[in-house]
Amino acid sequence: MEVRTIRSLRPNVTREEAIQTFTASGPASLFWKLRSGPLQRIADAYIPFRIYRVRFPMSGAQRTHLFALDAVDGSLDLFEFAAPPGDAETVSVFTRNNPASTLSEARSEELLRDKVLRVIFQQGFFKLRRIKLETEQLPGEIHLPYWLGFYGTPEDLRCRVLDAVRRRIEGAKVSALFEQWLAIQSVQKVEKLPDGVELTAGKAKVRVTVFREGLFRVRVAPAGTFPKDSSWAVIEAPEPGAIKIDDAKDEVRVTSGTTVARIKKSPLLIDFLRDVGDVLVADDSDLPMAWENGRVRVWKKMPADEGYYGLGDKAGPMNRRDRSFTMWNTDAFGWRESTDPLYKTIPFFIGLRKGLAYGIFFDNTWRSSFDFGKEGHDFYSFGAEGGEINYYFFGGPTPGKIVQDFSALVGRTKLPPLWTLGFQQSRYSYEPEERVYEVAKTLRDKKIPADAIYLDIDYQDGNAPFTVDRKKFPTFEKMISDLRAQGFHTVLITDLHIKKNPDHGYAPYDTGVKDDVFLKRADGTTYVGPVWPGDSVFGDFTLSRAREWWGGLYKNFVDMGVAGFWNDMNEPAIFLTSTKTMPPDVRHRLDDGTTLPHLAIHNVFGMENVRATSEGLLKLRPNERPFVLTRAAYAGTQRYAATWTGDNVAVWNHLGMSTPMLLSMGISGYGMVGDDIGGFAGTPTADLLTRWIEAGAFNPIYRDHTAKGTGDQEPWVHGAKHEAIRRHFIEERYRLLPYIYTSVEEMTRTGIPLMRPLLLEYPQSPEFFNDDSEFMFGHDLFVSPVTTELQDMKVIQLPPGAWYDYWTGEKSSDQELKKLKPALDEVPVYVRAGAIVPRQPLVQNTGETPNGPLGLRVYPGPDCKGSLYQDDGHTLAYEKGEFLRVSYSCQVGADAIRIVSTIEKDSYKPWWSAAEITVFGIGKAPKSVRVGDATIHEWRFDSAQHAVVFTLPEAKNSWTAELIL
Ligand code: GLC
Repeated sequence: MEVRTIRSLRPNVTREEAIQTFTASGPASLFWKLRSGPLQRIADAYIPFRIYRVRFPMSGAQRTHLFALDAVDGSLDLFEFAAPPGDAETVSVFTRNNPASTLSEARSEELLRDKVLRVIFQQGFFKLRRIKLETEQLPGEIHLPYWLGFYGTPEDLRCRVLDAVRRRIEGAKVSALFEQWLAIQSVQKVEKLPDGVELTAGKAKVRVTVFREGLFRVRVAPAGTFPKDSSWAVIEAPEPGAIKIDDAKDEVRVTSGTTVARIKKSPLLIDFLRDVGDVLVADDSDLPMAWENGRVRVWKKMPADEGYYGLGDKAGPMNRRDRSFTMWNTDAFGWRESTDPLYKTIPFFIGLRKGLAYGIFFDNTWRSSFDFGKEGHDFYSFGAEGGEINYYFFGGPTPGKIVQDFSALVGRTKLPPLWTLGFQQSRYSYEPEERVYEVAKTLRDKKIPADAIYLDIDYQDGNAPFTVDRKKFPTFEKMISDLRAQGFHTVLITDLHIKKNPDHGYAPYDTGVKDDVFLKRADGTTYVGPVWPGDSVFGDFTLSRAREWWGGLYKNFVDMGVAGFWNDMNEPAIFLTSTKTMPPDVRHRLDDGTTLPHLAIHNVFGMENVRATSEGLLKLRPNERPFVLTRAAYAGTQRYAATWTGDNVAVWNHLGMSTPMLLSMGISGYGMVGDDIGGFAGTPTADLLTRWIEAGAFNPIYRDHTAKGTGDQEPWVHGAKHEAIRRHFIEERYRLLPYIYTSVEEMTRTGIPLMRPLLLEYPQSPEFFNDDSEFMFGHDLFVSPVTTELQDMKVIQLPPGAWYDYWTGEKSSDQELKKLKPALDEVPVYVRAGAIVPRQPLVQNTGETPNGPLGLRVYPGPDCKGSLYQDDGHTLAYEKGEFLRVSYSCQVGADAIRIVSTIEKDSYKPWWSAAEITVFGIGKAPKSVRVGDATIHEWRFDSAQHAVVFTLPEAKNSWTAELIL
């Protein structure tokens, strides 16, 4: 990128003048002048900045701070110039880049940083610094431009600058500069509550209560009055159990189970500890909780060896340390590693050090932010631009227990229909009708198993939700039932916007007007914003009657036999506006007659939209499990819908980014998640699509999807060789369905996701915490997808314990380092020694009854077990106990291996009665094989796989089998 300095581009304007223009006339006008006129290139190099000198009273050192606003990216950058006497001058740049801007599509964080540095040096900044040091400007003078509105009002940004400065300045000067920020004071009064304590500190009141054993809650009322307690996310009621309160002179301790909240009194600081003494997390003693003008923030100490995991769909490494994030649901087409915010708000994270873990859920729906060490090296912080300091602290002790407790608090994924775990084929858009038939037929003809076909916005008349374009789809109803007859479930997109289409008999609009369920602005007029159908209106989803109205709109499609629905654009995304969303003066009505501004509801709007869809579908089809796919979410949205990671790109980097993103979603409570297999934007190369289909076989949602105008992306598009490999992996997915479905059912009960980061299973092994490329699929499969086109050696460190190669059955030793070069048709997958994995014969879709026995693969090892859960796969009969649950175990002795099957519940008749058992890791043929008391003769020893194979004709009862070695 070419970097031009202001001086060379605008010889008649000095930088000083530019600064003056910036602050005096307001940057908005200057910016737009620059962007639109012949001077546009100047804008590309123009970096307005302000300088602050800061004296550190403790050390006497001086530092200079410069804030720069990048007029192109609209990002806010903090530069620190540290010049301790005698030392060489150093420059560090902290980029607060926010590439959500449409202006920044082509820029990377690195480029920006580079550009900024070069501008600084080219302009002889250091000289300038000396001059500027003479005058000290107060940060309060910063003028921030409104054109940055897409991620903040001037106020928002000012707050960020102040925050940033506050982090870097020590001593008394700070309070003078930031008198508006009010930090919590000392505790004057401690009041015991049945579930904790209420502390009075100045005007503020703070409640530290126990919600469940080891799960605390902190709430702060700056002015002393707590607002009505409500949450969109939390569904559990408090059950504090036994608690202990010790009120001493300097501190109060609240103990629940083995977790202690220690509240220091002067100033008020909250630490959480294990009762044995380990500090889990402590407030930063220099930075007590604070608020300013509606904003709230909490700072915590950040130990050097602590990592932070969670926060939902944030891109980049799973460990969020050294980065900062904004929570503001955003339509982020073609997002990149540095793009933030993205589509979802899940303000929950796990702090993890070797042997110590805790979780924090900041239940605040306003635009919030999390800074894990970008502004400081020894503290992290979270806060929001409105709402309450209201967070939950999870004492664990393990990451698994934290995920369980968090998912219990906000609700877990409901058991999905079995077909949603099959392969799903989508594109923007399959049209007309003939093309849909053709895709379905090709999948069946080519024997590529598949369960779903998606219809994107072009099946609709003018992209208006709940309509059908009869020119392109003249026999729409018949098509849905023909697809159904071939074992395909149709999923229809029905975005949340309703076309503003009066007087055309468009029922969704007419009924919405009649029922008064559309969102309004502060002045009482209906809010209208452009989306796919043009001018659109929006359901006021925070009102129950609006949700009911919305749910009813699905009746026609449900009657046609449409299986699932896709609610996209529900961040909400609005076109032709710099904020990409609704204006702040939109008012959301609540059932109690009050309203909330858009800023308070934005992040839960998508969640309430899919809540309406899911509840509506349940009403229309009371005994069927609904399937809804959402793009936006707040914590807890997994109760209503599955999700995907939005508009990714058909490049290798995105395939690599997919794993940590899906894993992060899983530990944020959202386990039914996938990405657009093959990439949405652009057309994948043959190898890329093949590798993506391979990886996707081990993702929870397995959906191939691509944008309009890209090349075909179905599994068969790159010729026979690629088709065969892709088919093989899709088939393997179907063979594994009993294991996958059992793991998903476990997820609905425990919150532990199907796709698990290694830290969840191996919290004692820090070397695996930051593994962004490998994961556990269910409890027993270790998957290392190939996500690069390079032919480099793939080095895999297997987690503790012994493992078996999933494909060959070969056993590896403990902690073996594998050095592999997986060919295009190979994905390294290993099975934990001690696993029993149920499988099934191949089917072309989940509606087809498998022909043959249940497969049970036994991998002898310590703590050897497995389980199987089955039910009818689509109704709610399982809620009434109509399911089958079997547990398996094996004991490995010196002379025998014993396998035991125990029926725990058999209120559902599965498709199988026989089971074929394969026991791996057997060096030579056993002396005999026994089932119950009888010796059987029908078994074989597979010397290549070191496996013994035998079949039990009646395997539905509890049984015992034994290999005598
Ligand atoms: C959005 C969605 C994408 C969809 C398109 C058209 O970009 O993220 O998946 O295909 O809209 O509906």
